[in-house]
Amino acid sequence: MKILIVGSGGREHALAWKAAQSPLVTEVLVAPGNAGTAREPGVRNVPVEATDIDGLIAIVRDLSIDLTIVGPEAPLVAGIVDRFAALGLTCLGPTAAAARLEGSKSFAKEFLARHRIPTARHETFTDVVAAARYLKDHPGAHVVKADGLASGKGVVVADEEETALTAATSMLNGEFGDAGRRIVIEERLIGVEASFIVLADGLDYVAFPTSEDHKRRDDGDRGPNTGGMGAFSPASAVDAALEAVIRARIIEPTLRGLKDDGHHYRGFLYAGLMLTADGPKVLEFNCRFGDPETQPIMMRLQSDLVALTHAAATGRLGAATLEIDPRPALCVVLAAPGYPAAPRTGDPIGGLDAADPACRVFHAGTRDQDGQVVSSGGRVLGITSLGATLEEARGHVYRRLQGITLDGALYRRDIGRRPYGARP
Ligand code: AMP
Ligand code: GLY
Repeated sequence: MKILIVGSGGREHALAWKAAQSPLVTEVLVAPGNAGTAREPGVRNVPVEATDIDGLIAIVRDLSIDLTIVGPEAPLVAGIVDRFAALGLTCLGPTAAAARLEGSKSFAKEFLARHRIPTARHETFTDVVAAARYLKDHPGAHVVKADGLASGKGVVVADEEETALTAATSMLNGEFGDAGRRIVIEERLIGVEASFIVLADGLDYVAFPTSEDHKRRDDGDRGPNTGGMGAFSPASAVDAALEAVIRARIIEPTLRGLKDDGHHYRGFLYAGLMLTADGPKVLEFNCRFGDPETQPIMMRLQSDLVALTHAAATGRLGAATLEIDPRPALCVVLAAPGYPAAPRTGDPIGGLDAADPACRVFHAGTRDQDGQVVSSGGRVLGITSLGATLEEARGHVYRRLQGITLDGALYRRDIGRRPYGARP
């Protein structure tokens, strides 16, 4: 089988690395990929952007690709799966209609409410005066969210009315373009976050191991929100009993709700959860794998990723199960200076070739420039390792980071260690 992975981040490098290990696979292509996927044995980059659906269709036809796996949300929300299906091409992911679970927060909240799936209370607004009145009438901490896709930047957690109103006003006035012309204001939930990702084929699904992301840029969960500065698996606060609750109260009702609404949901479904004193609640859905959660999860996955994804994409997932390495895995993201607001790019990266069997260096924002790997995005690398314990995996990763050079690079020193904040 020939596989095409769409995207260019750390998630796509980890998916390509894993797919290339499948005995079913002759070649893995990545569009457009990065310097890491270019160097990965059995993997080749093709110069087509992830949002160029016509270009991707041309590649799939020219190279007789058997299965396309989409990494980022934008092509899914734009309808890549519908376009492929109309041409008889196999592409794993939800249709554009089902991808609205990620593409529109008001759609997701309305879906959750209608199907009685636990989530924060919310209201939707298109008008500043109505939003201001709501905030005045409902004292307390709120979260203000742009309705559409805003690369993880369209969410403001506000303890005070004034902060919430400032965020609501600037979103409704066009800070995120059309993505913020409609906003959701919801109650702020308190607890520990966890990511729960499944591969679904209608009502059938397999659950990947749980994971925990670190969204703030700086140590101690401070600084601006980012796409994610590091992740580990399993999540610290989810035991087998809680996992059963998450499946029964969140994942299964979501898949049933999608079916009842006329969607056969195929692909990855990512529930971002807050584990509260009242049980797990949905913060958001993503219709794709998480980044950087993919990196530690792929290190733990022992099953054949291609067999699984091909089965889901062709309606044959059935009662598949997953083999998971019991050892925990951890990933630390190395980011460019200026991330997330204005990352500097074009700097040389050194130390990538050091032999270190304990770690995998997944590339994200990297490219080749005259034989030298240089930075090309905000998140540059994701150093990932398995360990007998989480501490051991951390030790491997932070030791490997010492040998990597990128001028002004930043990374968190506390991935996998959360002494701050409350744990339930
Ligand atoms: P989202 O893109 O909706 O997942 O929001 C990004 C981040 O904002 C989440 O990972 C949480 O850290 C935070 N967040 C979102 N919604 C809430 C909420 N209702 N209560 C507390 N924190 C939230
Ligand atoms: N790491 C969070 C996400 O992929 O959305």
